[in-house]
Amino acid sequence: MDKKNIDWANLGFGYVQTEKRYVSNFKNGAWDNGVVTEDANIVLNECAGVLQYAQTVFEGLKAYTTEDGRIVTFRPDLNADRLAESCKRLEIPVFPKEQFLESIKEVVKANKDYVPPYGSGATLYIRPYIFGTNPVIGVKPAEEYQYRVFTTPVGPYFKGGVKPLTLKVSDFDRAAPHGTGHIKAGLNYAMSLHAIVTAHEEGYDENMYLDAATRTKVEETGGANFLFVTKDNTVVTPKSNSILPSITRRSLMVVAEKYLGLKVEEREVHFDEIKDFAECGLCGTAAVISPVGKIVNKGEEICFPSGMSEMGPTTKKLYETLTGIQMGRIEAPEGWIFEIK
Ligand code: PLP
Ligand code: COI
Repeated sequence: MDKKNIDWANLGFGYVQTEKRYVSNFKNGAWDNGVVTEDANIVLNECAGVLQYAQTVFEGLKAYTTEDGRIVTFRPDLNADRLAESCKRLEIPVFPKEQFLESIKEVVKANKDYVPPYGSGATLYIRPYIFGTNPVIGVKPAEEYQYRVFTTPVGPYFKGGVKPLTLKVSDFDRAAPHGTGHIKAGLNYAMSLHAIVTAHEEGYDENMYLDAATRTKVEETGGANFLFVTKDNTVVTPKSNSILPSITRRSLMVVAEKYLGLKVEEREVHFDEIKDFAECGLCGTAAVISPVGKIVNKGEEICFPSGMSEMGPTTKKLYETLTGIQMGRIEAPEGWIFEIK
């Protein structure tokens, strides 16, 4: 192995172009076999469906170097399933699960020199996505699509790594009831851009979105689900049909219950009750688990007892156990680790 000369420890969450990507096209009703190519650029017709009506969905997962030097990914089968759900909602042909898993393997193998070394603090982020390619001017689904997977080495999503974040309760809504909040569609992120730019300008790290119908219940942030810890150490996560079913969150609930012996609850979480929680964290592939120290709602501050300098103790145990499983230090539940070889 000949690792690239990259300053792994100082990587942020940005795009670093790697050598190879996977491409498959959908035409005449079928996905082709796909190839690994070197060309990072895409040439599209000016009227391509993705450019006019945002017909695009994506996924995000990571490759890790384990303590014993293997390269692994974490539960990619769930990314394949979620991508299929996203496709169905936007009338995109589903990309076959076996081919999805094969594409992840091929693209990571082809870029193995960019998989950050064990202990570097960085990982290789993998971005599969699909978009409508043929000209579409009347509002309707495209007939031709491209599926691509590229990789980019990344460090922490939030600057400052594991320093507790300050969130703003957003004045904007992220997802409507019966809308698209539960899928990973580019359109959900486009509409969050004004809210996040505004939050950053005001000095916040992220937005907390409330449910659009009543604005009384906690949903998620622009790119991660919430976990709360009660004062008697129960791990609570919001249940909602309009949030993305985070693979990290689903895994952490298992870790909390089965590895740490904690009580877990997936239920509606009212904004009014969060002042009573002991800890709060954001979880996702990019965010891993990022602790939240403070949430501000129209100038009113909710400060968690875990404070602004460190992760709360339960959040920390969850973080250490999950990353231990991902990096091969702790035995994983059956089927969670997908080795790239
Ligand atoms: N919520 C949103 C809106 C996201 O974009 C993500 C990132 O994928 C998550 C939650 C976390 O999901 P996962 O843990 O599957 O990465
Ligand atoms: C991920 O965690 O993989 C995501 O897609 C979130 C995104 C905001 C970077």
